[in-house]
Amino acid sequence: MEFNIKSGSPEKQRVACVVVGVYETRKLSFAADLLDRISNGFITDVLKRGDMDGKLGTTLVLHSVPHTLCDRVMLVGLGKERDFRAKEYREAIRASVKALSATQSNEVVSYLSELHVKKHDVEWMVEQATVVTLDALYRFDKFKSRQDDVREPRKMTLAVPRRSDLTDGERGLLRGQAIAAGMKLAKDLANAPGNVCTPSYLAEAARDMALAFGAEAEVMGPQQLDELKMHSFLSVAKGSDEEARFVVLKHFGAKDKNDRPIVLVGKGITFDSGGISLKPGEGMDEMKYDMGGAAAVLGAFRAAVEMKLPLNLICVVATCENMPSGRALKPGDIVTSMSGQTIEVLNTDAEGRLVLCDALTYVERFNPATVVDVATLTGACVVALGHIATGLYSNQDGLAKELWAAGEEVGDRAWHMPLWDEYQELLKSPFADMANIGGRAGGSVSAACFLSRFAKAYDWAHLDIAGTAWRGGKDKGATGRPVPMLVQFLQDRADIALGNVVRRGRPRREVVETVDDDAD
Ligand code: BES
Ligand code: MN
Ligand code: ZN
Repeated sequence: MEFNIKSGSPEKQRVACVVVGVYETRKLSFAADLLDRISNGFITDVLKRGDMDGKLGTTLVLHSVPHTLCDRVMLVGLGKERDFRAKEYREAIRASVKALSATQSNEVVSYLSELHVKKHDVEWMVEQATVVTLDALYRFDKFKSRQDDVREPRKMTLAVPRRSDLTDGERGLLRGQAIAAGMKLAKDLANAPGNVCTPSYLAEAARDMALAFGAEAEVMGPQQLDELKMHSFLSVAKGSDEEARFVVLKHFGAKDKNDRPIVLVGKGITFDSGGISLKPGEGMDEMKYDMGGAAAVLGAFRAAVEMKLPLNLICVVATCENMPSGRALKPGDIVTSMSGQTIEVLNTDAEGRLVLCDALTYVERFNPATVVDVATLTGACVVALGHIATGLYSNQDGLAKELWAAGEEVGDRAWHMPLWDEYQELLKSPFADMANIGGRAGGSVSAACFLSRFAKAYDWAHLDIAGTAWRGGKDKGATGRPVPMLVQFLQDRADIALGNVVRRGRPRREVVETVDDDAD
């Protein structure tokens, strides 16, 4: 879909559909009011008849609105004006996009992007509208022999209030498109079935993406991983006929190539059967999404390189299958990680941490400024936080706060969970340095504690996305989370490096401190 930024009156748009907002109860937004005046109260008349009262997410399509040049006007309910925040804004955009697919609208001009959302500027409005629009239009139908017949607008123009807002709008559009493309990459990879998205496929996809953007890429196989002594990682891979892959992508965007990089690490289990500790059959198909962490860090990397973020960024993906076989890892086995620490494997289904621990040790060589790992790590995290918040852990509270604030800014939220020493007790083993599981109680925390033992050399955060990376049910599929949070985090880091002022004109400190009461 082609996007455009424009400032201009709604009645003058010669397009298939003009989209404007209406607050509860029947209060017109600025653009809706303009249309109403020019049409001698046509819109207020319709509203008075009771066809729509402005409830959030409702839509109504009007034809032949007098004195306008468009084929139709779509009214979109915004809810109560004083409750209209970031979350409501995104919901209104999503509703308008869904409703547009039901019309024959080739060209659309949306005035929702010029609404007022507290504490947010034009750039943000356009960025979010773009991300939500492309997210709402996403489909994964390449494995259907006949594609669903769905219409989507060919051209979408987002309105900004003033001519002087055009540059900010353009910038927001580019950012939004980069984020959306990163999310699409993450969704495409995660939705691909396990027989297609194998470890070598995932590694190839990562390499191709990086090279297409002029970034560096390296892919390692079992032999190199063995030389690196990644025996914990390899112990998971050995039950499968598919070879393990370890991918390292590098983007040198900082002025100085030697600036300490930010490192993103993704869990890339392309199918998690549980191994010898086999999972129950029901819903096992969903374990094709167990590379959602890898998909997300690749998506964030893609967005960052497309945006040419001025920072050094390294993206690491550790990928293999977790399968049962005569050669598979068994409960009771003891493996030696790359760090030298030994692990008693009590459950082969706790494989993500066995893979990640070696990746975390490997990245020490980059002398990272920060390491963030992203993983569909535990069912326990889904129990704790559901599908709303990503579990956020860190060995540095400031870093946790940064990631949290980044998520708030873009509606891709996380919640800070504890990593207290008391939880480390759960991992005690009489036979090895640690066990790979800590029992059912606090399962997400003990998994994070396990990882923390391999992340002592640097500032580190862990995102458990088991609940947020995909949706179950009849609309099942990958969500592309937490690409938006990661990209915002990287953008904020780049802004700090550029002189301690974040874009949108606010000092960094203020962003982190005021975001509290902005929670929506
Ligand atoms: N990939 C799963 C975690 C998971 C579960 C993600 C459900 C998404 C939805 C992970 O490898 C796993 O199996 N974890 C076990 C750990 C347990 C054996 C300690 C779990 O959560 O049950
Ligand atoms: Mn598992
Ligand atoms: Zn897993």
